[in-house]
Amino acid sequence: MLDARLILDPDLHVADVDRRTFGSFVEHMGRCVYTGIFEPGHPEADDDGHRRDVLALAREMGVTLVRYPGGNFVSGYRWEDGVGPREDRPTRLDAAWHSLETNAHGLGEFVTWARKADIEVNLAMNLGTRGVLEALDLHEYCNHPGGTYWSDLRIAHGHPEPFGIRMWCLGNEMDGPWQMGHKTAEEYGRLAAETARALRMVDPDLELVACGSSGRGMPTFGEWEATVLELAYDQVDRISAHAYYDEVDAGDLGSFLASAVDMEAFISEVVATADHVGAKLRSSKRIDISFDEWNVWYQPDLEVPTEDWPVAPRIAEDTYDVADAVVVGSLLITLLRRSDRVTTACQAQLVNALAPIRSEPGGPAWRQTSFYPFAQAARFARGKVLAVQAITPSYECARFGATPVVHAVATHDPDRDEVVVFVVNRHVDEPVSLTLGIRAFPDHRVVEHLTLSDPDVRAVNTEDDPLRVVPRQVEVTQRDGDDEQVLLPPVSWNVVRLRRP
Ligand code: AHR
Repeated sequence: MLDARLILDPDLHVADVDRRTFGSFVEHMGRCVYTGIFEPGHPEADDDGHRRDVLALAREMGVTLVRYPGGNFVSGYRWEDGVGPREDRPTRLDAAWHSLETNAHGLGEFVTWARKADIEVNLAMNLGTRGVLEALDLHEYCNHPGGTYWSDLRIAHGHPEPFGIRMWCLGNEMDGPWQMGHKTAEEYGRLAAETARALRMVDPDLELVACGSSGRGMPTFGEWEATVLELAYDQVDRISAHAYYDEVDAGDLGSFLASAVDMEAFISEVVATADHVGAKLRSSKRIDISFDEWNVWYQPDLEVPTEDWPVAPRIAEDTYDVADAVVVGSLLITLLRRSDRVTTACQAQLVNALAPIRSEPGGPAWRQTSFYPFAQAARFARGKVLAVQAITPSYECARFGATPVVHAVATHDPDRDEVVVFVVNRHVDEPVSLTLGIRAFPDHRVVEHLTLSDPDVRAVNTEDDPLRVVPRQVEVTQRDGDDEQVLLPPVSWNVVRLRRP
């Protein structure tokens, strides 16, 4: 048994919880759209062909914003293919995922889905193989009230009200050589700046995200952000960051459980780079981060069709175990801890493709293990993010050396008078007795402790056994003097709620 201590103080306030931290991502990749959110003819399909069971799980998960339609897909996408009468929509080759895109589901359907789910749309534009004019057309179709070519077309397509989309991604992973229309930082920075300038001539209040690096390991990381921001600083609001982690790449379980150490460093480096450019430009403006792709993803297992061009093939349908869920929780803790600069985050993706929700064609939908940390954080993280101070033992792992066993953040909602601690125990076999130092909250008591853990860290949820891994209530232990104590099982994600009795 290890001992650790967290100090909680309402004055250690990092930022308000930004609801956009609980974003997700729907890409035309594998079965995320087709047989994921959309499957006409399924017993659960509504009149629009959207699966009610998947929609209900997205709502239960507490997703607040969804990035659409890609991803690598967007860099070869003509958004016009996916609007208007279905029978007129072309079928195209999607080179990104070597699939056939029927365009049966497009922009209007997605906005309709998002409205049903009460989710904000974050739309990505194709700046790989398209440019400023197509971006303007797309914006006009979506947001202009009427009386112009594109807005009248939207109305004719059955959407009288503008979509009112505030946040736009200026392309996707343009630093990546795998990306259609891949660019140098100079080429992309100029295009992003000019696209943003043109969009702002129509609507100055849009929130625009420039592509940062597609990963911290990219050879151009840092230089890419600096060059792009030097060219586009005044025109954009955020720079994106993407990160995926998996145990195979990490090398061992201990290193994998410490993945958030890498994410933390990544965020600090992007912030430092953005602030450096701001200082050079003598700008008082601050560029924040849109961490618009993050997750556990077993990329070494990725198989993309190469011979034929199937519709909605099974791509990246990773099954997540308990350890994966704990890493997802730890990544969420990091995103919350850096709420001062990470103002949007999207877990990639929502359904089937590297996703917390799984669904079978004609069959059921279920929650993967990784569903739960997201759902609980989205539900309970309210009010202000507190920078908890952790006094924790460390463990040695091959990738990061000495690593804190306990990784935590807390939120304080003054309106509900509730403090919630989100904490993982990264140790592979030692439980932790965690003391919550709450002298600054003298009347609060632990009212609930939820944990996700299992003696078998490889346990998963499947179609046949969808509730094998679920969070469970831990009996609340006695108070010790001024402090509260909870027990964290090895490899566990925990939510501890404190209120006045
Ligand atoms: O989310 C899966 C893919 O990962 C996205 O299409 C791409 O942007 C990233 O490389």
